Amino acid sequence: MLNKERKDSFFNKNKKYFDFISNNLKNVYNEPKAFVRTYGCQQNVADSEKFKGMLQKMGYEIVSDPKEASFILFNTCAVREHAEDRVFGNVGALKSLKRRNPNMIIALCGCMMEQEHISNKIKMSFPFVDLVFGTHSMEDFPKLIYKVMQEKKRVFEHKNDERTICEHVPTFRDGKFKAFLPIMYGCDNFCSYCVVPYVRGREKSRECENIIEEARDIIESGYKEITLLGQNVNSYGKTLDNHVSFAQLLKKVDDIDGDYWIRFMTSHPKDAKKELINTMASGKHICNHLHLPVQSGSNRILKLMNRHYTKEQYLEIIYYAKEKLKDVSLTSDIIVGFPGETYDDFCETLELIKEVSFSSLYTFIYSKRVGTKAALMKDPISYQEKSQWFNELLKVQNDISKEYCKKFLNRKMRVLVEGKAVKDGNLTARSSENLIVDIKGNEDLIGKFVNVKIVEAKDWFLKGNLI
Ligand code: 5AD
Ligand code: SF4
Repeated sequence: MLNKERKDSFFNKNKKYFDFISNNLKNVYNEPKAFVRTYGCQQNVADSEKFKGMLQKMGYEIVSDPKEASFILFNTCAVREHAEDRVFGNVGALKSLKRRNPNMIIALCGCMMEQEHISNKIKMSFPFVDLVFGTHSMEDFPKLIYKVMQEKKRVFEHKNDERTICEHVPTFRDGKFKAFLPIMYGCDNFCSYCVVPYVRGREKSRECENIIEEARDIIESGYKEITLLGQNVNSYGKTLDNHVSFAQLLKKVDDIDGDYWIRFMTSHPKDAKKELINTMASGKHICNHLHLPVQSGSNRILKLMNRHYTKEQYLEIIYYAKEKLKDVSLTSDIIVGFPGETYDDFCETLELIKEVSFSSLYTFIYSKRVGTKAALMKDPISYQEKSQWFNELLKVQNDISKEYCKKFLNRKMRVLVEGKAVKDGNLTARSSENLIVDIKGNEDLIGKFVNVKIVEAKDWFLKGNLI
């Protein structure tokens, strides 16, 4: 097939729906506008870029203010209860917008909507919501809007079969110089606290050729950073007929000519092997950063979490990374207060983070998720006590982050300028280690690589001068 034909294949397959919607819009609005709000992880951000791409093809202009929009989509997250509460609060607030514009379409999608109890709650309690669909129906988006417009009734789509991977879905990238590139979908790990395998379904990898083609396109369009995304990137390729490991894929992307950086997330420690570290070490474009979520430093808790590695196995790969990658930035996710965790278990987590010396951590208090194994476990520690442990963890990590930042004092670094801080008008840039570097300079530098000398190390960021 020709390249152009391939690129238009999704649009052509759904042409009937795209045409119907855009004609419908022309009859009602001069300038139809759509607003998309994303909750949760980068995978959701990447999915939203596809929703925006499809909405644009339908004739909508993408806007950043929901009040201007005649189509509103919330792409939701179910990982923690707090995220769900925020969605319910924000959906409630849409009622007044709908009252002002009864033609408006309000749609909810994503991980939270894949859960039947949530979808039912929306049906009963939020009658102004027109369309609800889960992650498995993502690529049916044009057909679902068509149904809402054509049949003029509420649509609740709940597919029992798994999402199939659709290639060449139109994409509206939020960033001008940083791009997300999903390489796989779903997760097979069933960590006992996590709802993701239930709401995103079984792990499926995209064909290697399609990923490389997209990466090439991104780089040729002038992007300076690509982040390869997946729930567990290290098990990439397992579902493909022609097996390609993640390290091999990384190498293939790294082989593309150009001046750009590659990041990837998320790695699972049980699947992160020396081959990955070796590929990072020999890469030309791969950032000096490894995000390797450990979750806990207690072997007892790791077992209850169904993580399939021990603290010792985790440390083995960490020490290998430290040996091969000079000053590598190591980051992690930690859950505090998993059911049955004792203060002694928690202290083992503190010991582990001191031993590894992470540059930063993403820390979470355990949140009970309906349908997961952990939701059935005894959880005797109060939220208040968990919060105290959590604060203790933050304090310990703060000192560790400070020490890590100090390593770079008086050094020369290459950074990618990302934007301008509102507070002081300085430019904010990011190093290969994912450290934020504050510099004085002209806005023209945004989206470009520059060299800086580090002159100050703050608690969690650096200050540099342009060289
Ligand atoms: N409670 C708290 N944190 C969670 N995470 C996933 N599920 C839960 C939960 N039920 C965290 C894990 C994961 C990150 C994306 O979110 O640390 O790595
Ligand atoms: Fe959730 Fe574990 Fe899968 Fe990560 S690897 S998405 S924590 S089940």
